[in-house]
Amino acid sequence: RMAPADALVIFGVTGDLAHKMIFPALYAMAKRGVLNVPVVGVAGSQLSLAQLRQRVEDSVAEAGKIDDRAAFDHLLSLLCYVGGDYNDPDTFIALKQALGAARRPAHYLAIPPALFAIVIRGLGAAGLADQARVIVEKPFGRDLASAQALNRIALSVFAEDAIFRIDHYLGKEAIMNILYFRFANSFLEPIWNRNYVSSVQITLSENFGIKERGAFYESAGCLRDVIQNHLFQIVALLAMEPPAYQGFGAVHSEKAKVFQAMRPLQPDDVVRGQYSGYRQEAGVAPDSDVETYCALRLFIDSWRWQGVPWYLRSGKCLAETAAEVLVELKPPPQKLFDDAAAVTGRANYFRFRISPNSAVALAARVKRAGKEFTGDQRELYLLDEQLGEETPYERLLEDAMAGDGALFTREDAVEAAWAVVDLVLDAHQPAYPYQPGSWGPQQADTLIAADSIWHNPMPEKGRK
Ligand code: BG6
Repeated sequence: RMAPADALVIFGVTGDLAHKMIFPALYAMAKRGVLNVPVVGVAGSQLSLAQLRQRVEDSVAEAGKIDDRAAFDHLLSLLCYVGGDYNDPDTFIALKQALGAARRPAHYLAIPPALFAIVIRGLGAAGLADQARVIVEKPFGRDLASAQALNRIALSVFAEDAIFRIDHYLGKEAIMNILYFRFANSFLEPIWNRNYVSSVQITLSENFGIKERGAFYESAGCLRDVIQNHLFQIVALLAMEPPAYQGFGAVHSEKAKVFQAMRPLQPDDVVRGQYSGYRQEAGVAPDSDVETYCALRLFIDSWRWQGVPWYLRSGKCLAETAAEVLVELKPPPQKLFDDAAAVTGRANYFRFRISPNSAVALAARVKRAGKEFTGDQRELYLLDEQLGEETPYERLLEDAMAGDGALFTREDAVEAAWAVVDLVLDAHQPAYPYQPGSWGPQQADTLIAADSIWHNPMPEKGRK
């Protein structure tokens, strides 16, 4: 574990990510008293400190409200600003001056990926990388080759331990609970494999469109935007072998092995969709074929998961905003009861609700009162929690500053995940149109039909 950072540098401090995520996270950290280092904003424009402070105020006010003036003033007192071109060595000299006595800065690259290499090299050349760390946001590349190139550049200047790659899903409470739930209990292990699990499905659905992110989305699409990273991370936590020892090095290694064991996707494994109206969004090409929906079937060729299909889907403009996992178990070996629902309905399952609330439910059949041996599938809630205030960003930023790499992604895992999707990034069927507010194109129903039917996450009231 690295020593704590003694300064935070935010490249792209005038950008969208800083505005939406980073400032509110810093304010939350200030409120908890865990932000006590200089915060140096860097961007291309010439900004006065007063202007930067105003931007921070706007951001925090927009995200919630400024309910602790002392903490907010403390945050403002930590700020300073360096303006300049990232291609100009003078920018980095000015940054060095602004950092003063700080020796272990954390450099947060809240900038478009096209600028990563320039800034990383600039940091290296100015001697600003020595005991420093770098925090990078997804996307880490847009395919295997670009991810490898990006990792090479980062590793030419920073050690792997000093690179904190953020996938904000790993900072989510309900996703951290998957790791905990799997390995803090003993009853799961005997059934958590190909002998008892018939299929696994994961849905991440959003009932809104691409908002103002047309230009970004056109260069990404659903598979790159959320599946190769967020959903794959969930798969890794569900599928990994038990880490052999305590500590996150072992977790990282087991997760990487899951990606390595994933069978590379073929065009037949993927259904792409595009919501009607997408081509009229700002920044979108009138003939765009970019997918706003993607469903896929995945196999993990490991001892544990051989032959078990994993179905993943995500989309914009779907019926609900929610994320859920369903781990379906095989039916009993014999049908002993004349119970129509048990024959046609879903078999037993585990359901993990990731958002908007965190829940774990186990569905099992129980007898209905009466003379007949018929019953219903009921869910036993093992957990049902409204999520607290702490956002993933706050958690991850605090960890990166503290030098704790547990919730970040490692180079080998990122590259292995790209290798799985690499073939279908370009070789695929056209995107099928679907109606906003639906559950996506019906071709996705055909994709899963041999093994299951999609489970559509519904609004769920807290049970407490
Ligand atoms: C981001 C994607 O990484 O994740 C967005 O770029 C997506 O398109 C978002 O909406 C989903 O994250 P969350 O935390 O809102 O589920």
